[in-house]
Amino acid sequence: MHVLDLDIFSRDDIYKILEYSGKFKKNRYSHEKFLKDKSFVIIFEKPSTRTRISFDLAVYESGGHLITLNKGEFHLGKEDYKDTAKVLSRYVDGIIARVFSHTSLERLAKYSDVPVINALSDLAHPCQILADLLTIKEKKGKFKGLKLAYLGDGNNVCNSLILGCALVGIDCYIATPRGYEPNSKHILKALNIIEKYGDGSLTLTNNPKEALEEADILYTDVWVSMGEKEKDENLFKPYQLNKEALELAKDDCIVMHCLPAIRGKEITDDVIDSENSVVYQQAENRLHAQKGLLKFIYDD
Ligand code: CP
Ligand code: NVA
Repeated sequence: MHVLDLDIFSRDDIYKILEYSGKFKKNRYSHEKFLKDKSFVIIFEKPSTRTRISFDLAVYESGGHLITLNKGEFHLGKEDYKDTAKVLSRYVDGIIARVFSHTSLERLAKYSDVPVINALSDLAHPCQILADLLTIKEKKGKFKGLKLAYLGDGNNVCNSLILGCALVGIDCYIATPRGYEPNSKHILKALNIIEKYGDGSLTLTNNPKEALEEADILYTDVWVSMGEKEKDENLFKPYQLNKEALELAKDDCIVMHCLPAIRGKEITDDVIDSENSVVYQQAENRLHAQKGLLKFIYDD
């Protein structure tokens, strides 16, 4: 099984991963070592703090071994990913990769004999959204009937978020400047999932107020992702998560950001540091959710 994005999972799969994640969180250091004798490689074409550390600890605390390859430490660009995939498959039980282009992941997956897990590409960030769903479940105790407002750039995090929301039945509002909507194939996939389960919804708008009003969950991410060219900031300013935006949402709303954040751009200090903010809980949950994912892939 390759995990390039969340659409490979059913609703039951997601619930199972979250259930495992919750159990591992309660029992962080003494849970079963379900990755005993398993080895992994994690490849980074671009920087990471959370993904790097949380995967390393998730594998270590589950009894496995993880080798980290940073750009410049392997034959990236010289050796075709086909050969990299074939060779790594002879050594390890799984390849985790953060890449500039999603096509690199697809190439790794095509030729790998072991699971390939997306640790972020230009198109998707599924592991982040698993941690976010765990956080929402912890804070709200449910998914159905919740309104989520995502403001800003329709980027990799947003693409996986609309799939994640569809899979659990959240009403998802995406407010972006014109031309910065999420990927059209992801929109179609999310709509198909919503139709399949008969609950949840996806609304795309250029009006941040429509998304924010009475929202239970506010989510934003950087306006310029790693590897992207600078964008016109003025286009994005109306989509900033600031005090005025927070006031439109429910009083008990939670504020989410995958981090790293550019404080003062997509989110202001008073909002990211507010009582509503759960950004550090999200970051912690990367560890637990990735354990849940690994358990699902290797020991279900
Ligand atoms: N949220 C996230 O993926 O963070 P890193 O880039 O630090 O891994
Ligand atoms: N959209 C951001 C997410 C970082 C975790 C990026 O790709 O840079």
